[in-house]
This record gives sequence, C-alpha cells and structure tokens, in this order.
Amino acid sequence: MCGIVGYIGTEDAKEILLRGLEKLEYRGYDSAGIALVNDEGVHVYKEKGRIATLRDVVDSSEEGSVGIGHTRWATHGPPSKVNAHPHRSVTERYTMVHNGVIENYEQLRREYLANVEMISDTDTEIVVQLIDRFAKEGSSTEEAFRKVLSLLKGSYAIALLDNNDAETIYVGKNKSPLLVGLSDGVNVVASDAMAMLHVTNEFVELMDKEIVVVTRDNATIKSLDGDVISRDSYIAELDASDIEKGTYPHYMLKEIDEQPYVIRNIISKYKTDDETIKLEEDIRQAMLDADRIYIIAAGTSYHAGLVGKQLIERIANKPVETHIASEFLYNMPLLSENPLFIFISQSGETADSRGVLVAVKELGYKTLTITNVPGSTLSREADHTLHTYAGPEIAVASTKAYTAQMAVLAILAVDTAKAAGITMNFDPLQELAIVANAMETLTDKKDVMEQIARDYLSVSRNCFFIGRAADYYVCLEGALKLKEISYIQAEGFAGGELKHGTIALIEDGTPVIGIATQEHVNLSIRGNMKEVVARGASPCMISMEGQEEEDDQLVIPHVHEYLTPLVSVIPLQLISYYAALHRDCDVDKPRNLAKSVTVE
Ligand code: F6R
Repeated sequence: MCGIVGYIGTEDAKEILLRGLEKLEYRGYDSAGIALVNDEGVHVYKEKGRIATLRDVVDSSEEGSVGIGHTRWATHGPPSKVNAHPHRSVTERYTMVHNGVIENYEQLRREYLANVEMISDTDTEIVVQLIDRFAKEGSSTEEAFRKVLSLLKGSYAIALLDNNDAETIYVGKNKSPLLVGLSDGVNVVASDAMAMLHVTNEFVELMDKEIVVVTRDNATIKSLDGDVISRDSYIAELDASDIEKGTYPHYMLKEIDEQPYVIRNIISKYKTDDETIKLEEDIRQAMLDADRIYIIAAGTSYHAGLVGKQLIERIANKPVETHIASEFLYNMPLLSENPLFIFISQSGETADSRGVLVAVKELGYKTLTITNVPGSTLSREADHTLHTYAGPEIAVASTKAYTAQMAVLAILAVDTAKAAGITMNFDPLQELAIVANAMETLTDKKDVMEQIARDYLSVSRNCFFIGRAADYYVCLEGALKLKEISYIQAEGFAGGELKHGTIALIEDGTPVIGIATQEHVNLSIRGNMKEVVARGASPCMISMEGQEEEDDQLVIPHVHEYLTPLVSVIPLQLISYYAALHRDCDVDKPRNLAKSVTVE
C-alpha cells in the first residue's frame, strides 16, 4: 500500500510528481504530499484526501527540478494532514516518504529517540528522525541512511531528500516494491513503472536491502554495507494507453469490457503453432511431480483459486487445497510429501501471500506464481511464473484479472492432464474462445444489468448470492464485488447452507441473486431459491442457456461446464458496478481499500 515517486532532472518536478502520484492512487488514497527542492530549500505540501485535493494546496509558482511524493493508505495513525507524507526530521534537514510498515519502530524510538518529540503518529517519522540523529553524530547522509535501514524490521520503500544536498535522492527498499527509472540527465523513482512512463520506460529493479544514490546522471545501487552492485536496466513493456481510461467513465467498466480481449490474448500466448498448449517444460514437470497442490491467495484471487481447485481436480485428477494466504501460516494443514505451492496474485505483491511463499521456500518446497505482473515480488521469488496477460488493472475492484487467472488455471489443468496421459474431449483453447464470445454478449447487455441493479439494489442494505458447486464460488466473488464498491452488506452462500442459520436474515424484499449454470445442481438451487422466496425474498435468477426457466431475470450464453465461472461473473461485476454508481460511490477507489495490499 502507499505509492512513492521521485524525480531529479531539469524540468519542473511538481507536475511530474503529481501526475505520477495520480497513477499510483490505486495503492492508497487517503492523503498525499510532495516535497520540492529549489534554491531556497525543501518545500513540503501535503493534505488529507486525494491527489486532486493536494493539487489545490500546492503553490503553482513553487518551482524545483528535484522532488519526492507520496500517496497514503493509512496503517499507523489515521488519515490526516499531519500523518500524510513527506515527513521531516526535527532539524528539517531530512524529508522522507515511505511505503511499508516498520515493525520495530516503538523499540527504535525508545532506544534512540527518547528525547525527540514526534509530530505524527506514523512509524515513518522514526526513520527520518533517526537518520537526522546519526547525521548529527557525524555520519554522512549515505552512511546514516544505510545504518538506519540496517536497523529496520519490516517492509519499506523509502525516498529521502537532504536539505544540504539538493542534487541527490536516496532510496532504499525491503519487501515493498521500488524501481529507479533512467533517462538522459533525468532519473526517477517509483513504486510502479506506470507512474513514471511519462518520463521514461527504462527501469532498474531493486532487490531487498539495497539502496540507490540517485543523481541527475547516475543511479548507483549499493548494498547496506556500501558495496556497489551493478544491474542491467530493462524496458518496461507497458503502453501508456493501457493505463488511460479513454472514453470510459471508470476504469472498472473499461476493465470489465476488456475481458473478452484478455481471454483471446491468453489463448494466443498459450498456444503453439500446432494449436496445442504452450507451457514451460519445468512447470509441466513440477505439476506432474506434485502429489498435492496447495493454492494460496487472497480476496478475489482466492476465489479464482477455489475454481482452480475444481478445475485441476476434475481435469488432472490431482488433489488440490485452496487456502486463504493470511491464515495459512497460523493454521497450517498437514502437508503432503511432495507438494507444489501455487500463488495466485494479480499484483504479485500481496504481503499475506508473500509471507507464505517465503516460509514454504524455507521448507524447500516448489513454488509457482500465477500473476498479472511478471516482474513482481511473488513472480521473482517463486521457482516458476505463469503470466495472466490481462494488462494493467487499475480499478481497485478486480475483474479482468480474476477471469484471466481462471483461464490460465484451466490451461494448466489440461496441460497437466495431458502430460499425465489422461484423455479428454475438452480443448481449453477452443472452449476459451467460446467464453470470450459469451463475455462479449454479456458486456453488450449493460442496460439489463443496470436495470437489475436499479430494481434490486437501489435501496436495500443487504443482498445474498446463492449457488452450488462452481456457482457457489462465483457467488463469493459476486458478493465481494458488491460490498467493496457499493458498501451493500452482501454474502455469497452455498444454496444448501442458508437454511442452517442465515435464512433468518431473509425478510420482505431482501434481494437474493441465484446462479444456475450447473446441470447437476440446477433443481436443488432452484429449490433453495423457493425457500427464500417463501420468506419474502426478492429473487433474481441468472441461469445458463440449457438450464433456464421462464421467469429467470437473465440467461447467459452456454459455455463448457468447467468454464462457467468466467462468464457468470460478468453480470455480477456489472450489477455491482451499476449498484455503486446509483449510490454515488467512488467505483474505482472505494473507501478504506487499496489495490496492492503490501501489509500483513
Ligand atoms: C477485490 C480485490 C482483492 C484482491 C486481493 C489480492 O476486488 O481486488 O480482494 O484480490 O487483495 O490481491 P492480489 O491478487 O494482488 O494478490
């Protein structure tokens, strides 16, 4: 969470930093700030709220060709101007922004800073005050910076300015993402390449516990011991237009609409010239060697993992367990002898998933990450990576990344089955092409979904989603989408489970959205729907061609039974979108959330 940027060059840094922060707002958006350096020193502007609010307080006449910026997702201390970054040391010599969590900040404060009066509630302030203290005791800024970073426990991506040296930005990282961007006489710093594409597309990746001394003409990477490290730069294969909304009112709507293209893109990336599945031999072997697969993920990616379990078990006949990342280490199951851990993560940065990755690697187990961001931490640290090719997902609520994850899991399942000699008449590449067309049919029916949102969700305070088998997993995702962007209390339930307690919540007019795409449970889910209707619920049935009944509110096109979640989720995404819109919610940046959850 939180996003940081830095710029050292020849142009006015102010607008470059603000534009960069706007691109990072998905990482947190409760307060923001920038620090600009010019001949008169370092000038800090910060404000509670979004970057748009920060823009209003930045003095437009203040110039400076060096600066740093931050957009915050609060962890220590509530969202407020005083807790917003940048933070300054007591002497005002140092100014700093930070993304991450310093776990031992209380201890550092007691040990080194007992006499310093803190201005904010943040863990970050301890770091900048400590650098100031070591500098006062005689260390150079770089020495003080390295010394303090070696004392920190936890995660950080930091950018630091020294008032006595306007020509340098010091950056360092551990666990939180950070890149340095290179150009001619200009260098930049960012949590994500997207933030600085308007300056450069050439970046250098930093590893944990490294610092970089960034000047206009150099970016020198060093270890915390001061040893210089050389590393090649790379060109970010990102198209600036991928991260623009274009004519769409919201990123979420654009990303919902992109799903058919994403699925076609996945087909092309995973297809050989002979129309068979293209997959690295090492991944195939890892799947074959595993006696059990453990899928680890959070939120929407966890929901994709539940579908993945079904796909791999049914298609490849291999046992799979899907676990919530944040629970796994505290509630570890008995592991099989030769497990393979699959991490599913859109961002590839989720701290809960990474915690499990680090732990299972220490135990010597094999790991595979399925991610939308190949250079991400989870991708770098796992033995293997499968890319979901969904393109940047900017809206906080995940849509296209979820369907892309399930598509890749289906391809992986079939590849494993084939390698194991299992015969089947299911060609995932052909069937996914049918899925893409079905998605398109549904995204063309936005008026129907808008009407459903209007009819069922304009005033209700809660909503239930019920389904069985794979439809149940989609219900979990539908409920998550609705609650995170519209703030309507929503729950996804296995149809048969409602009567064991939750049915007590059904009253006159309670919206219940049912999903019926699976032939073997069609009758039973319809029975469950009757049970809630008998208690006053307002039913909205979404079924698949072949399973439909006359009064169903929406019938989705027929696709292979293994792949129905990729299609049945589309109306749920759109219904959530319109429900949020009708309630005047901030669709792309819902309250209290952030896109990349890099704290535990
Ligand atoms: C919900 C959503 C989150 C993420 C979760 C994991 O719309 O986006 O639930 O799925 O925070 O994030 P990743 O997939 O980046 O690991």
